[in-house]
Amino acid sequence: MRSEENTAPAVKYLKDYTAPNYWIDKTQLAFDIHEGFTVVTAKLFMRRNTEQTPSDLMLDGQDLSLIMLELDGIALNDSDYTTTPDHLIIQSSVLKDSFELLLKTRIEPEKNTALEGLYKSKTMYCTQCEAEGFRKITYYLDRPDVMSEFETTVIAPQSLYQTMLSNGNCISDTVIEGKRHVTWHDPHKKPCYLFALVAGNLSKIEDVFTTQSGRHVQLEIFVEEKDLSKCDHAMDSLKRSMRWDEEVYGREYDLDIFMIVAVDDFNMGAMENKGLNIFNTSCVLAHKDTTTDAGFQRVEAVVAHEYFHNWSGNRVTCRDWFQLSLKEGFTVYRDSEFSADMNSRSVKRIEDANFLRAHQFVEDAGPMAHAIRPASFIEISNFYTLTIYEKGAEVVRMLANLLGPKGFRAATDLYFDRHDGEAATCEDFVKAMEDSSGIDLTQFRLWYDQAGTPQLDVTDSYDDNTQQYSLTIQQHTPDTAGQKNKRAVHIPVNIALLGSAGHFALNMEGEEPFVETNDNTQRVLNVTQSEQTFTFKAISEKPVPSLLREFSAPVNFKYNYSESQLLELIARDDDGFTRFNAVQSMFTAWVQRYINGENITSSISVLAKAYQSLMNDDQQDSALLALLMTLPAQAYLLEQLKPANPLRIYQACQFIKQSLVAELGPECLTLVHRIDDELSQLEAVGDELSGSAIGLRSLKHTVFEWLIELGDEDVPLKQSFIDVLTTQFDAARNMTETLAALKSLLALGQDQNSRAADIAKVALVSFYQRFSSESLVVNMWFQLQASTSSANALKHVLALMEHEAFDFNNPNKLRALIGGFCNQNTMAFHHESGEGYEFLADQIIRLNTSNPQIASRMVAPLTHWQKLSVTHSHLMRNALQRIADVDKLSKDVYEVVSKSLNVGD
Ligand code: TRP
Ligand code: ZN
Repeated sequence: MRSEENTAPAVKYLKDYTAPNYWIDKTQLAFDIHEGFTVVTAKLFMRRNTEQTPSDLMLDGQDLSLIMLELDGIALNDSDYTTTPDHLIIQSSVLKDSFELLLKTRIEPEKNTALEGLYKSKTMYCTQCEAEGFRKITYYLDRPDVMSEFETTVIAPQSLYQTMLSNGNCISDTVIEGKRHVTWHDPHKKPCYLFALVAGNLSKIEDVFTTQSGRHVQLEIFVEEKDLSKCDHAMDSLKRSMRWDEEVYGREYDLDIFMIVAVDDFNMGAMENKGLNIFNTSCVLAHKDTTTDAGFQRVEAVVAHEYFHNWSGNRVTCRDWFQLSLKEGFTVYRDSEFSADMNSRSVKRIEDANFLRAHQFVEDAGPMAHAIRPASFIEISNFYTLTIYEKGAEVVRMLANLLGPKGFRAATDLYFDRHDGEAATCEDFVKAMEDSSGIDLTQFRLWYDQAGTPQLDVTDSYDDNTQQYSLTIQQHTPDTAGQKNKRAVHIPVNIALLGSAGHFALNMEGEEPFVETNDNTQRVLNVTQSEQTFTFKAISEKPVPSLLREFSAPVNFKYNYSESQLLELIARDDDGFTRFNAVQSMFTAWVQRYINGENITSSISVLAKAYQSLMNDDQQDSALLALLMTLPAQAYLLEQLKPANPLRIYQACQFIKQSLVAELGPECLTLVHRIDDELSQLEAVGDELSGSAIGLRSLKHTVFEWLIELGDEDVPLKQSFIDVLTTQFDAARNMTETLAALKSLLALGQDQNSRAADIAKVALVSFYQRFSSESLVVNMWFQLQASTSSANALKHVLALMEHEAFDFNNPNKLRALIGGFCNQNTMAFHHESGEGYEFLADQIIRLNTSNPQIASRMVAPLTHWQKLSVTHSHLMRNALQRIADVDKLSKDVYEVVSKSLNVGD
């Protein structure tokens, strides 16, 4: 633990919120960039908040050296202010009701490896201020409820930097004494976390968007010159996002220019700075030769996400960081609906549900569990979580469904109108929903306060004589870290009843649905009590209940389905999620049975028959079939089956795939060939990147996952599969195919001295040679190797850390190599020697000093020791303890590690 003199970092509480004592109406900044340091001049036009009792002015600041401080044009006396490591405090007695503060600070962006504040990425200067990074630029009231008008001048030696950008509109560009001065003005008041600056030599692509009211907006995407050919997809996504927000939410863009800048070194995906979004290159650049289908979809989603923040985040911002989900949950909901409209709605819904269950449910059951509006935190950077983002989006989705499309639009209109230009709270959002619709959301509000995934236990009964069918639903939310005895929440449960001749019309006894649906065969049940029974009339036979259709709430549910009932759902239900869930439930049960030593072969055979008919049905949607053929994520299985040995879970999955492919091997290969023919046809007519092509590739590569488990006894089949992979690798039409072929070859190549091993070795080398100048492709090359199961995987990762292309200060490289190993290589990370855990601990200790935000994110795989069976559990806890014993732990790492060690205290 931290040494005694080093007291534990302070916990901040939502309940302690108070309004600021001072306002900053206007902020004038000048950045004089030198080689090795930058001088920041800040002129702050300030005013007392007369509603608060008079108090000293406490400005936030970190790692700054103060070189000048003037109040209303006069240098401050030393006795009138003090500086501490985190603050500049000016005595109240010297401050009038309004005043001007002039501050000069010196900072060293070149040494900033934490990538927060002003830093250098390759040759380019850029900023990242959310959440509390602005305080590393100058002393300021670094909190989102202080909103100011910004004017920013970037100063650098003439002709050194062609690109000098900040928020808003460019109002002057002049040369003074050999230096170029570029000034930007943002007319919209904003909190400092939305401030941005960029200086470098970049190239751009340009376009124009005409808004619904006829204004022209200049669109610019800045990248390194070599990447200019990879910007079209982002530009196209941007224009589609702008149109969509006008059509669906009535929201128009509000400046004359919108810019995106791509940087290589970035802690997260992207940042919504007003008028000047800054993106991780991985979320902007896309080209079919270097980017996978998933990569294209990610670019589209992130461009949309950041653009949508202009309203949900910037025009209406957050009062304090406890309200983070107000902007993030809402914006994720908005971008997921955008993606659903642009692509396949049902596939997007299954992907989101699957992701939430595999990852957010895990977080919500672990030591960092928190409500979407947390009550406290130590370091806010640790709360940019799946819970805030994805569960937050699910809560907004439930509201949208409760209000219906028209009602929700009216409510968001009210919310935006009411709070435009303000810093708002989650309560403001719910209140707008309530005021607009008249629906009482008192109980619904619990979703904002209670952590943990509600569990539904569903039982049923059927009465032949009365032809009545009843569903009884019990709900329970488990205790989570620091939060016990939870109350029943309002859970909308969408259901249907499947009979032998199709879905029954639903006529309920008493209970009425919240929102009328057009379709009489599904109903949203409002589950609001800890136990409730819903009865349906005129049901002529015992039905199979189709539960939580469209994943209508972020909950777990259990119903004791027989295997034949699950097969009915898979074959005949009309909702994507319930079909997907039926397959997942089967697999999950089998993994458990396999671990218990039971024989599951005959069960697998029955499912194989079902797959056979789906594979032969050429009407079947291929993207959906791919999802139906995907085994549950390891993280999901561990969460469902805990405590468990992750190695056994992995082996069970392998056994299931082996058994499936033993029955369906020839069909799989036939399907692969059929898909390749269809893809060639699509390519011939220029539809290589269409939704159908993406779906086909996704199905083909899911089938690869099975085929790599072909046993040696299937030699001819296996040889044909290797031929398929070799051809695909050599003649790939795009990166999706190249990478999938390489991945399968690597997996097969673990069989030393095999033909596949030789091919894999050569392929790996040629891949690197071909793409060594494409940093994002090299990342995938690292990730593939790190995630491949093999006896010497850890040695290989350690060797790759010495590779010329690896860079310990680049978060994308860390995520690819170290993240790939710890999150995707079950066998090696959970090696029973504990060496995988110790490796991660070493990396965290090193990262704790260079980049605390990334260190604390990457520690996650070590935080779930409680779920593991005893040997693994001990080894993991030891590794975690070793991190805790380091002195000078950052707040970021301290919070995660200490909470993880102290669970149950
Ligand atoms: N607001 C950003 C988004 O969701 C998140 C973000 C980008 C961020 N960079 C960050 C959060 C750095 C914390 C630290 O779009
Ligand atoms: Zn966001």
